[in-house]
Order: sequence, then C-alpha cells, then structure tokens
Amino acid sequence: MPLLTNIGQLAVCPSQGGPSELGLIEAAALAWRREQILWAGSQRELPEEFKAFPSHDAGGALVVPGLVDCHTHLGFGGWRADEFEQRLLGASYLEIARRGGGIASTVAATRAVSQKALLSRCREFLSRIVQLGVTTLECKSGYGLDWPSERKLLQVYRELAAEGPVRIVSTFLGAHIVPPELRADRQRYVGALIENMIPAVARQRLAEFCDVFVEETAFSLEEARRILMAGKRHGLESKLHADQLSEGGGALLAAEVEAVSADHLECISEQGIQALADRRVVAVMLPLAALYLRQTPLQARRLIDQGVRVAVATDFNPGSAPSYHLPLALMLACTLQGMTPAEALRGATIEAARALRRGDRIGSLEAGKAADFVLLDAESVNHWLYHFRPNSCLQTWIGGKQVYQRGVATPRS
Ligand code: NIG
Ligand code: FE
Repeated sequence: MPLLTNIGQLAVCPSQGGPSELGLIEAAALAWRREQILWAGSQRELPEEFKAFPSHDAGGALVVPGLVDCHTHLGFGGWRADEFEQRLLGASYLEIARRGGGIASTVAATRAVSQKALLSRCREFLSRIVQLGVTTLECKSGYGLDWPSERKLLQVYRELAAEGPVRIVSTFLGAHIVPPELRADRQRYVGALIENMIPAVARQRLAEFCDVFVEETAFSLEEARRILMAGKRHGLESKLHADQLSEGGGALLAAEVEAVSADHLECISEQGIQALADRRVVAVMLPLAALYLRQTPLQARRLIDQGVRVAVATDFNPGSAPSYHLPLALMLACTLQGMTPAEALRGATIEAARALRRGDRIGSLEAGKAADFVLLDAESVNHWLYHFRPNSCLQTWIGGKQVYQRGVATPRS
C-alpha cells in the first residue's frame, strides 16, 4: 500500500463541497491501495499502521486530483490554420461554415485518414496531454458523419481506452453538422442517425453519451430533441453544444431532456440558466473556443450565483479551439470568465467528473475514489493559475501508478 508524503498542500476538491470548496490540507499525506484512495489527511495524523509502507516524497508540491477534460474532439484529420487567418481578417466562423469550410473541411480530411494513422495521431496528442496533468479525457466523434468514418473515430477511442493510461470517455457526435453530401436532404441524415447510427453505437458499446450541436448551421431544436431522445432510448445519456453562437434554446432543451451537461453557452438566457440550475445540468465553460472566436466571454458568476454546477474544458478541435492545454483553459476561465482559481480547479476535477457521470469514481481525493492525482510546482491553487507557465505539472499518477515525471528537476520559478 503506497503513500505520498511531504505534500505542501493537498486540494481534496470534496464532492459534497460548494463551488469554491477545495478541502485544503497543509503538510498532507495520501495513501492508496491498488487503484483506490484509502486515506488523505494531515501527515501528522497518518495512522500508525500506514507508516511502514513504501512512500514517495512529494517534495512540498501542491497535489490536486487528476484533471478531467470533459469536452474534446480529439480525433480529426488535418488542421485549419488558414481559417484562423481568415477570421483574423474579418470573416466570421459562421460565414466560413456557410462557404463550406469549417467543420465540413475537417470532415473531408478525417474521412481521408486511415484508422491506424488517426490512432497514432491521437496517441501523440495524449502523450502530451498526460504531461499537463490530465488523467481523464472525453473524446467526441463528429468529424466522420457517415457510419464508416464515425465508427473509425469511436474505434480509435476504444483502442486508446484499452491501451491507457489516460481514462477515455467516448461521446457520439454524429449530429455535429449535416454532412455536405446530404445537405439537400437533411431529414435523411437525421433519420440515419436515429434509426441506424445511434442503435449501432449502442449495440457495439462505442460511446456512453450522445451529443448534438444546436445552431443555425447545424441542427434545430426539434431535430436535436429527436436525436437525443433516440440516444436515451438506446442508453446513451445526453450532452449538448448549446447557445454557442446564438441563443437557440439549447440550454432549455438540455434541461428538458435532463442532459448531463450543456456546453459553451456564451449566449445563454436568464431562463436557460435557471433551467440548468433546476435540473442540475452541469454547464461546461470552454474559454479557449470563446477566445479563438473572439466572442464576448460568458461570465461564469451568472451561473454560479444561480446554483448551476460549472465545469471547464478545452473543447480541443481544429477549428474553434486548437489547443489541448487544460491548465491554460483554467487560467482563461479565471481571466475571461471571472471564475476564481478554486472554482476553476473544481471545474476541471469534480464538476467535470459529474459532467461525465463519474462524480462517484474520480475528480476528488476522497477514500474509495480512483488514485488519480497530480503534483504541481506551485505553493497554492491561486499561485498555480496566477503565475501561469507552459507546464507546472511535475508528476501525473493514474490509478495509483505514476505515468509521468518531469524530466529535469527545476527549482520553483
Ligand atoms: O465545439 N461547436 C461546434 N463544434 C466545435 C467546433 C468544431 C470545428 O470548428 O471544427 C466546437 O466549438
Ligand atoms: Fe465542442
């Protein structure tokens, strides 16, 4: 039964706590058995029977739960740096989409890539993501938009999940946009999603969640409702890309179908906020997407004050958020969206775990939960997100095993 000792500060992020409750313990120790946490507390109170166990010295580091990125589009072909430039020259994201660029161009690139090539690209991303302290990653399909290509993406995620060490959670986003070849016959695509693809995803256990992009250039509220209900009939819980570029009633629909999360929400109405609070739908902030699209950031306080649970994620994708840097997203959740570092940390641990229906297994350092934790080169959570550095992660542990160690020992700087 291993121990981690000499922890400068331990942030438990208790699952029952309020939005800024970190459950901080100074001069702490952590004990686990196999994959699970057994005990966390002040090192002075370490139970006698644990003292003889093999211990690792944390060197005074800040220790937090393994970070959970609860919204990514990890698998895709190509990039879209040209659109980045076009947007900077004045084109809007929607204009580019209407011209056939945007998601549609990544769909073409993704269809052209083999499963093997996609797998090795995702593996490469993951090898860097784990170095940032991320231990669980949600991955959406949605750049295939025909069954062979959607299945290819979900099979890549299944292989990554089997390989480890990062925990992978898959979401079916066949309803990202209507694929270009069916634009004139969108009902046929919606029908294929409902009658063929969703049942096949469920039968082959390729995903746990079903997501829909509700937007003028994507799916209407009515289409989304039908798709999400079909998902539910087949055991896939709902998620939504909601109210991102316009207020389209997405948050209200998320509440109506009791989705696990509603994501983006830059244009959410007061009524939408109330609905998320009433139905306990987690609101996922994606500040990198808002920043890259140069949108007015959503003030997270509006949601937190109404009692909505708020998570933070990267939205990693080649269009609106071409970065998988979750700590960067957390710093931006503070500076652009007005979250405190404590709220942001909870947003990428326990609240993100809830957005993946895993609040009982991961996301906090409490007895019985997975021993997923990260050592950070910082004296406090405030200092970590205030003095932002390319990487503050010293070590990443998943299921009680160390999976990353920073190469060179550097003094705190
Ligand atoms: O979450 N909003 C829709 N989907 C992605 C963007 C996808 C893309 O531009 O390729 C998002 O921002
Ligand atoms: Fe997204």
